[in-house]
Amino acid sequence: MSAPAVTTSLSNTASALEEFLARQERIGLLRFLTCGSVDDGKSTLIGRLLYDTKLIFDDQLATLERDSVKHGTVGDDIDFALLVDGLEAEREQGITIDVAYRFFTTDKRRFIVADTPGHEQYTRNMATGASNADLAIVLVDARQGVLTQTRRHSFIVSLLGIRHIVLAVNKIDLVGFSEARFNEIREEYLNAVKDLGFKSLTVIPMSARYGDNVITTSERTAWYQGPSLLSHLETIDADADAAVRPFRMPVQWVNRPNLDFRGYSGTIASGTVKPGDRVTVAASGRSSTVARIVTMDGDMERASAGSAVTLTLDDQVDISRGDVIGVSGAPVVVTDSFDAQVVWLSEHKLFPGRSYIFKMGTRSVSGSITKIRHRIDINTFEQGSAETLDVNDVAGVSVSLVAPIAMERFTEDHDLGGFIIIDRLTNHTVGVGMVESASQAPTNIVWHEMGVDKDARAALKGQRPATLWFTGLSGSGKSTIANILDRKLHALGRHTFILDGDNVRHGLNRDLGFSEADRVENIRRAAEAARLMVDAGLIVIVSFISPYRSDREAARERFEAGEFLEVFIDTSIDECRRRDPKGLYARADQGLIRNFTGVSAPYEAPLAPELRLTTTEAEAEELAERVVEELRRRAIIT
Ligand code: ADX
Repeated sequence: MSAPAVTTSLSNTASALEEFLARQERIGLLRFLTCGSVDDGKSTLIGRLLYDTKLIFDDQLATLERDSVKHGTVGDDIDFALLVDGLEAEREQGITIDVAYRFFTTDKRRFIVADTPGHEQYTRNMATGASNADLAIVLVDARQGVLTQTRRHSFIVSLLGIRHIVLAVNKIDLVGFSEARFNEIREEYLNAVKDLGFKSLTVIPMSARYGDNVITTSERTAWYQGPSLLSHLETIDADADAAVRPFRMPVQWVNRPNLDFRGYSGTIASGTVKPGDRVTVAASGRSSTVARIVTMDGDMERASAGSAVTLTLDDQVDISRGDVIGVSGAPVVVTDSFDAQVVWLSEHKLFPGRSYIFKMGTRSVSGSITKIRHRIDINTFEQGSAETLDVNDVAGVSVSLVAPIAMERFTEDHDLGGFIIIDRLTNHTVGVGMVESASQAPTNIVWHEMGVDKDARAALKGQRPATLWFTGLSGSGKSTIANILDRKLHALGRHTFILDGDNVRHGLNRDLGFSEADRVENIRRAAEAARLMVDAGLIVIVSFISPYRSDREAARERFEAGEFLEVFIDTSIDECRRRDPKGLYARADQGLIRNFTGVSAPYEAPLAPELRLTTTEAEAEELAERVVEELRRRAIIT
């Protein structure tokens, strides 16, 4: 037996876990995480669990015994913290590591422990480690009792949907195995977490260092009648409800080896299914009857939550990867807007309105957090207001997606209610979220279909509508080129309009300044206005600095393919400063203008614009002509 420490970041967690899961189909699995600071004995506890179940690699063990003697922190005993801390050293050198997963096995069960570094960035690391855990071990030092951080850890754990808690009252040897002290801590903790909705809470007196109540119960705490930690972990039924909830299975892939067979493969997220059951596909709402439950070992009579199966249906229903098959009569909610709790993981702030990728299971869809409803102070659990979110912030938010997707409340179903938020440009995970409420018809506003559509309006004008999105520094020449272009198109009998940053800021966007959050909103509104104009059949020239790539990408997404052309007015900051048509650079350099683009706020140049106009190489007139040519080339004008 072995206990490989698999250090992994969130991105490859899934494959490591899948691989592990595949190997242990026949035996129960419990995923848990430990929370506590280094001083609480977290490392020692994990080391002790692995050591006493004889699961440590032999070579790791040899090193451990040697190092323990060398460091001598615990006399002749082995210092278990060294084992885990040694692995931590690997982690420090390497790649950005969020969580170390350790796998171990006993005769009764297999375990995955998510070991999260306790110090800095606790929220972020806990969120990563807890994303799939069934149970959390919260450690306290018996001498210290329940601390603010104990409350904080418990709160985050509850937020992340973990319903089973072990409170390990560690270092009980240092308080003379005192029952009174144990009871005191127990009472205090029960009181502190009474509103957090835990389903089971087991409090165990423990000495991780000497092994009391870790693997077996200890005579030194004869007054304690409960189980040892390991036997509790081996026997707890952490997901008892999963099988009784309605049947749901997200489709991982459509299995079509030949024309005669079409099956839908996935892992059952909740409930039970058997041949003959009526099922409905979320989104399409199409129903059918389960014909067979196919597995590698032959057909099954019934299958429940956690099983990986392939279903075949009686009818040819259109189902693809990412769809959710659920029992008819208790349909999965399909919606594009919902409320959620999020934990922000990125050093880059969250701004409402900015576009991200929301990944729920196998499905990815872009969308944005439209509103921060409240930020939660994780020390006091109080709710306050917030404009943006920082790393480790926890908040209740409203989310709006560009397309509807099947989901459940996270408390009902972790697979269908949990999601991660991905930065669309860097591909980094910037947040994790839990669906709080998702209603089928979240709004009273329905899209009004117009009798005369965009094509009809454009046809009358003899053109294809489009948005020409000019981006560049202040003073780069955007407005100058835009004006010439507008004149040229007008002379050609085209129907155009200019949306200019300075002008729009006099009216529609007069409430906005130049903070990053305000610019996100400035660009969002500009894009929406441009889109209405495109719907009216116009060729719209948008001339905004629009310094952030992700906001320009989000603007692009509001349009159909080929309708949005990003035009980079490429003028260096030195040249803009030299020109300084409005005297703004001079003022910014004196510190008189805050957040001035290129001086005290960033400008992210386009990576692949449809058109790049370098203003130091040609006159504005010629550059405008190049845009006209491009429009001809793309048959936007003829
Ligand atoms: S954007 O960054 O939000 O896209 P926008 O194009 O609307 O900017 O407005 C930019 C114009 O506002 C500039 O041309 C300049 O005249 C003026 N301005 C005033 N303060 C600033 C600032 N801090 N940064 C950039 N431009 C500013």
